Amino acid sequence: MTRYDLALIGFGGVNRALAELIAERGSELEDELGFDLRVVAITDLRAGSLVRPDGIDLAALLATAPGELDFSTLEGGSCEPRNQQVIQDGPGDIVVEATFTNPADGEPALSHVRWALEAGKHVCTTNKGPVALHGRVLKELAARHGVGFEFEGSVLSGTPILRTAGRLLAGLRVTGVEGIMNGTSNHILGRLEEGVDFPEAVREAQALGYAEADPTADVEGHDVQLKVMILANEVLGADLRREDVRCGGISHLTPADMRDAASRGLRWKLVGQATRREDGSVDARVVSAALPADHPLAAVSGPTNAVAFHTDLLGTVTVSGPGAGRTETAYALVSDIIAIHQRHGAAGTHHLSKESFRG
Ligand code: HSE
Repeated sequence: MTRYDLALIGFGGVNRALAELIAERGSELEDELGFDLRVVAITDLRAGSLVRPDGIDLAALLATAPGELDFSTLEGGSCEPRNQQVIQDGPGDIVVEATFTNPADGEPALSHVRWALEAGKHVCTTNKGPVALHGRVLKELAARHGVGFEFEGSVLSGTPILRTAGRLLAGLRVTGVEGIMNGTSNHILGRLEEGVDFPEAVREAQALGYAEADPTADVEGHDVQLKVMILANEVLGADLRREDVRCGGISHLTPADMRDAASRGLRWKLVGQATRREDGSVDARVVSAALPADHPLAAVSGPTNAVAFHTDLLGTVTVSGPGAGRTETAYALVSDIIAIHQRHGAAGTHHLSKESFRG
């Protein structure tokens, strides 16, 4: 039986939900997919770092409330996150990066991913920053080191948009993509339609775990901007920088705007679009738009997201599903691990039990 040892970088909502999935479903995954998962290292800004080459007891860890975790009290623990040391020299076949997204330069997640790939470890991440801003370079780095770099959860959490495009739409010419790609803003728009005011709707989205640490990124379109870059680069072969993607948000909209649109048969949505121009270049933008009822994205409500692929042979193919949420995003990481297993198989496992590592 193949076993993958995981190093979790960041132990906020997403990686904690991954640990819960492994604790609850590990044996089912083992039976169904033919590999076993074990967590051997965790680092976290607040809790510190925990390294146990023989496997961390997840049930014991998960019994402690998130805010009360203190790895320094445990065997193999330290109060320092020690990300670089754990990633480069610690145990683990797959580094699972789920720290916060930094849209400016992708750090510190970019360094986490780079250190792991350079150390010959597979990486899966839900972090949009490194993928949107440095995806091409990181994919080249992974290829050079013969390891996997998977990031399904960076767009639409667990809904398999990138793999749908990469695998199931192969052979089609995709001329453009457009989508509702932010659960927070879509939730807020729905609540504005119900007459709830903007600040209250933002608070709800935060409480439900949809919103970014700074919800400005959700409501001003910056989160979708990164997702559009990833989609355009992955699906349309573009190489966009942030400044190439015009960005608008929804914070100017009110319940009155919703009522006015409804009276005309329209619904306001925050839409990310990327379209191939005649000359082959890609035009990409994030806009708030009042969509007619027959638009494929108009009926998408709440935290649900959807992406419509415009293709030559099939016309428009729309995929819809959750776009946010800790368990949904954690599932994306499981799907990334499955992809790594399918592509790299048992030969890709290292089971580094570095004796040189000082826990
Ligand atoms: N904050 C994002 C959303 C989820 O609301 O869709 C992660 O990208």
